[in-house]
Amino acid sequence: MVFKLNNQLLSKIATGKGHGEDSPYFDGWKAYDNDPYHPTKNPDGVIQMGLAENQLCFDLIQEWLKNNPKASICTTEGAEEFRDIAIFQDYHGLEEFRIAIAKFMAKGRGDRVTFDPDRIVMSGGATGAHEMIAFCLADPGDAFLVPTPYYPGFDRDLRWRTGVQLFPVDCESSNHFKITREALEYAYEMAQLDNIRVKGLLITNPSNPLGTILDRETLKSIVNFINEKNIHLVCDEIYAATVFSQPEFVSISEIIEEEVECNLDLIHIVYSLSKDMGFPGFRVGIVYSYNDAVVSCARKMSSFGLVSSQTQHLIASMLSDDEFVDNFIMQSKKRLASRYSSFTKGLAQVGIKCLKTSNAGLFVWMDLRRLLKEQTVAGELALWRVIINDVKLNVSPGSSFHCTEQGWFRVCFANMDDQTVEVALSRIKTFMLKNKEAMMPVKKLRWQGSLKLSFSSRIYDDFIMSPHSPFPQSPLVQARN
Ligand SMILES: Cc1ncc(COP(=O)(O)O)c(C=O)c1O
Repeated sequence: MVFKLNNQLLSKIATGKGHGEDSPYFDGWKAYDNDPYHPTKNPDGVIQMGLAENQLCFDLIQEWLKNNPKASICTTEGAEEFRDIAIFQDYHGLEEFRIAIAKFMAKGRGDRVTFDPDRIVMSGGATGAHEMIAFCLADPGDAFLVPTPYYPGFDRDLRWRTGVQLFPVDCESSNHFKITREALEYAYEMAQLDNIRVKGLLITNPSNPLGTILDRETLKSIVNFINEKNIHLVCDEIYAATVFSQPEFVSISEIIEEEVECNLDLIHIVYSLSKDMGFPGFRVGIVYSYNDAVVSCARKMSSFGLVSSQTQHLIASMLSDDEFVDNFIMQSKKRLASRYSSFTKGLAQVGIKCLKTSNAGLFVWMDLRRLLKEQTVAGELALWRVIINDVKLNVSPGSSFHCTEQGWFRVCFANMDDQTVEVALSRIKTFMLKNKEAMMPVKKLRWQGSLKLSFSSRIYDDFIMSPHSPFPQSPLVQARN
């Protein structure tokens, strides 16, 4: 039989590119999948530094699981519960699960706020939560403003199946990518000029990819902005408990309860256990809305992405254990702080800086602007290809986060053990050694006569003169002393 090729056989969604799978962000993952690093089996393989996973506290989880066999229906001790857990669950979710999640969300915010279990709506990870909230708040063609740089998955999660658009609010390195009122107003006006109806603002706090948190003043100004425009505010707080040093995290839930006049119907939080607990595979996502109608609609929609009752049962038990949760959150912050510190110090030894205002998340925002041959997206992607193919590290280029300045890269550091971090750092050091001339800020290079080059960068001097420098001491530099 001859089959006729027919483009219309499938839907526009199925045949379109809305998933965004062919972006560099996902290409890097493919490079890793084709040649994954293993310390003995494939020591020259690609190290995965493009995956924001929190694997630093799995020992604590495993210990808890061993000590609490009743929490699982797959153990001799817990199998008696099998029947009750396996039968049909409605879309409200197990009550003990919602209570435990509400409590955990409060703990992750220093117990300065409380959450109502009746407002907890389940979804398949934060991915499902974002789509669900987009379906509840906007119609096809409507837009959400999103400060840049932002998590690339938003382009898929909020837009692909809903037909909703994202409109960037450009933020810049000159003020550490702060979300200013001016930038918000400008983006809002631009959207209006394009005849796009803005239905909301989506913020990520702490930020992926920046690893920064929003201060009280910025949060208040954002709440004022959305109230004046009468648009929704969706706050992705999935990295809430990863804030590993001062200043402490401030949730939108604190701001609206204490500090500003606000129409609560406009406020929605997206949460998940993928980052704070390190459980992306469990697909525990949450929409927490202060709007009754949204809670009610989202709950009905949650039928499309319920969390399995088996997972709810386990999570309810684990997160109700106060002693475990308190210790886990504390240990996780401690280990993240230590990993962040050792990794950024290793980078600093070869003159690589990261955004210095970051104190959260599972990644650093690495500044390689000085290594670009040209300050364009093509220039950034050319460097990224070298990093993937030659240095064999999968890092993510800033352009895939819609960053408007080229040369920034997100590097994840919490999805590997200490030895792998050391291997990654030594590869970066070797790479920088090969490119040492690129370490010098282009503007500050001065050719003296035809042969001599003098360096005026203080950073470069600090680094090259350091006992930690892997560079052989240049005779030119020694002659300067
Ligand atoms: C800011 C942000 N939101 C949402 C997600 C998706 O999370 P989940 O695994 O819970 O779907 C991610 C994952 O990296 C993220 O970084």
